[in-house]
Amino acid sequence: MSNIVEKNQNYKKFVLDSRLKYFKPHATEIQKSFADEIFSSLGRNSKFIHPKFFYDKKGSELFEKICQLSEYYPTRTEISILNKLQIELLSFLDDEYRLVELGSGSSVKTRLLLDVLSNQKTLEYFPIDISEILAESSEELLKDYEKLTITGIIDTYEGGLQFLKNYDQKKNLIIFLGSSFGNFAPVDGYKFLQKIHQTMKSGDMFLIGLDLVKENSILESAYNDSLQITSQFNLNVLSRINDELDADFELENFVHHAIYNEKDQRIEMYLKSLCNQSVIISKSNLILTLKKDELIHTEYSHKYRLSQIHDLLDDIGFELKHTWLDENKYFSLTLVSKN
Ligand code: AVI
Repeated sequence: MSNIVEKNQNYKKFVLDSRLKYFKPHATEIQKSFADEIFSSLGRNSKFIHPKFFYDKKGSELFEKICQLSEYYPTRTEISILNKLQIELLSFLDDEYRLVELGSGSSVKTRLLLDVLSNQKTLEYFPIDISEILAESSEELLKDYEKLTITGIIDTYEGGLQFLKNYDQKKNLIIFLGSSFGNFAPVDGYKFLQKIHQTMKSGDMFLIGLDLVKENSILESAYNDSLQITSQFNLNVLSRINDELDADFELENFVHHAIYNEKDQRIEMYLKSLCNQSVIISKSNLILTLKKDELIHTEYSHKYRLSQIHDLLDDIGFELKHTWLDENKYFSLTLVSKN
């Protein structure tokens, strides 16, 4: 282990027991980049908060609730596909694989994939997640999988991939589920897939879950649920900025706004200002002024056609192995390799 710590001086290492350790960047670096990013993304004309900032503890809990909403079909649909693909997936894995998950995700999905690998001699899991929720869900997994060892990386996906690059010779099955890829702006998404491709060794596999284009009404109600959990999730990012960056957003002066943009094939989520107002964000050194009805953009959630998914992955240089769908063709899981 000592050489790994040397290679990752940006991280603090926490060993919880012989089967669980995690790495976390030094706190000051995380805090600084949050304040800086908010300064530049809210300090410009078209205001924006990056969706990665949704996931503090409260935000991660709210997201878990979203996944259980009747209107939010992606999670249960992806789980139904994962349930069916288990044996077929195994036929593509000709060696021992480590499960690397971008986002520590819902443990239901992780478990379905650990089950696929559980006949191997060793069972290793590397969750990469910006949220500390990673440590809690890991402990639950250890209880149920006797030979499992977990190395958590509490960092951005990019940071985690850098950590993984040249880590060792064991083959990785990298998974990026839940259509989280759809939250990237297209250019950033393309670069991110290139980064995954560059991180992979020959023989590594990548499984990506992507939401598909469907009727507008189904898409819009998934992001405008009747219990208004998505609204709480969206507004929570302002509470987070209040708490962590010493700001004075008044949440009742904002509402959640989510629409489907058919041309760009994406749900667009915003926080709409209900009045002319100004907000002080002390740690970002920013006084934000907002007009009535002005929008702060918080998230894109892109939806795809199968041909677009295949063209994109092919363009990056991946080799397509298989795509699995549910019976309604609402969601897809695609397996690719790097040769
Ligand atoms: C994490 N991500 C894939 C979710 C999505 O559907 O884009 C985040 C989300 N935002 C609102 N509801 C769910």
